[in-house]
Amino acid sequence: MKITSICCLGAGYVGGPTMAMIAAKCPDIRVTVADMNEKRIAAWNSDDLPVYEPGLDDIVTTARGRNLHFTTDIKAAIAGADLIFVSVGTPTKSYGIGAGRAADLRYIESAARLIAEVSEGHKIIVEKSTIPVKTASAIQTILAANSTKDATFQVLSNPEFLAEGTAIADLENPDRILIGGEQTPEGLAAIQALASVYQRWVPREKIITTNLWSSELSKLVANAFLAQRISSINSISALCEATGADVDEVARAIGTDSRIGPKFIKSSVGFGGSCFQKDILNLVYLCQSFGLPDAAEYWRQVIHLNDWQKSRFVEKIVRTLFNTVNGKRIAILGFAFKKDTNDTRESAAIHICRDLLRERAHIAIYDPQVDAAQIHQDLTEAGIDPELLATNVELCDSPYAAAENSHALATLTEWDEFRHLDLPRLYDLMLKPAFVFDGRAILPTTALKALGFDAFIIGKGA
Ligand code: NAD
Ligand code: UGA
Repeated sequence: MKITSICCLGAGYVGGPTMAMIAAKCPDIRVTVADMNEKRIAAWNSDDLPVYEPGLDDIVTTARGRNLHFTTDIKAAIAGADLIFVSVGTPTKSYGIGAGRAADLRYIESAARLIAEVSEGHKIIVEKSTIPVKTASAIQTILAANSTKDATFQVLSNPEFLAEGTAIADLENPDRILIGGEQTPEGLAAIQALASVYQRWVPREKIITTNLWSSELSKLVANAFLAQRISSINSISALCEATGADVDEVARAIGTDSRIGPKFIKSSVGFGGSCFQKDILNLVYLCQSFGLPDAAEYWRQVIHLNDWQKSRFVEKIVRTLFNTVNGKRIAILGFAFKKDTNDTRESAAIHICRDLLRERAHIAIYDPQVDAAQIHQDLTEAGIDPELLATNVELCDSPYAAAENSHALATLTEWDEFRHLDLPRLYDLMLKPAFVFDGRAILPTTALKALGFDAFIIGKGA
């Protein structure tokens, strides 16, 4: 089956960039990204894209209006496509059975029902969202039970492994493309049809094909392994602080062992992002559901350690500032969950700011990409009441404005510009003693101390 028209349900951080890359690489395939969120679709059709991602503007501009289209007309997009990616959100369920652990599959289910309602002929449905193992079976059942026009479907799993901030490079040159499908002639033909799209720019040997369940599960496992490495090094960061060891030196020493490798062992104030926590919780829930409490507990510890890392960072600030931050101005550098994105979902900064506000600190936040409305929304959702938000939170347009008259400064995102701060200027602007809490270990310890700062760098002993 040759694919000539693709649609994607969900114009988010995955759907938008992924489809833009397919459209840019396959000019002969019509690619339509559909979402009911009118504001988001309008932004995708404007010069101010809803996702900040280096290199994204260029590929969107190349393909948009040619073979890349963004629309709110979801039904028409489904009807016109041979292959439909489902890239809707799968957040952690906040209610009922499995609350706080299981994935909330309501968007997946409503997408499947809509596909069934609208489709005619044969369509390939591709799970791009991260979902619990066996979701394809639920989708197949919904499609079969609700198809009104005798349509036929093949359901594939094709999880996305891009990381925000490097999405375009990851899509352009992925480590692998994973495609799972039914091991029947029809299933294998669908796998081949999707593989042939990726083969336009990805070498065939990088395209791994498996059965559906292995593919679905591999996505959760990949994120769990990545997050586990961060929690492992973060547990060691505390030991380094206590002993005088340096966590970066330890990471370098162990990372040169080719069996361990150098990536994902950079200690931090804690991992954030929309997926690590939710996907591990999902894995924990799956283990519990399949009667494997010890396996569930093992993975739960990765999250527990991450929560502990964020909490102990706040405690360190409060204790160091003579056990009170009440009324003290604290500059927060970085609010995004990592550099090169405007995404703040599950950012460690939300947790740190919330806890400092509960201690009645005044916080002055600077982030180069996150806007004020997003920060207000995140802190409100974290439980900060509007009055405290109005009186104790200031949003600044430079690190220096944030630092002015501050008792302390905390770096929470590893934006490159924070590596090149004018430290003497910062020191002059701050109240004395001037405290720095570097939650990303990006500031030069020796230079800070030489200038007179009282510096705490995550994972660095005294
Ligand atoms: P997102 O919240 O940014 O976007 C999801 C979009 O889906 C929203 O705009 C929503 O309006 C839309 N939507 C919901 N139901 C719909 C429907 N029936 N039809 C059309 N649109 C619909 O989410 P995201 O970050 O893009 O993540 C999507 C999925 O990809 C999740 O399962 C996530 O775990 C996974 N994932 C995310 C990343 C990442 O870096 N963000 C990476 C890999 C995988
Ligand atoms: C992660 C995975 O890396 C992607 O492969 C996956 O597709 C994606 O989740 C997903 O499923 O959503 P992402 O969350 O965008 O990507 O970003 P990462 O680079 O993985 O960073 C996650 C968090 O870990 C960030 O807060 C980052 O600062 C932190 N981190 C990362 C560390 O603290 N130390 C490290 O060594 C690496």
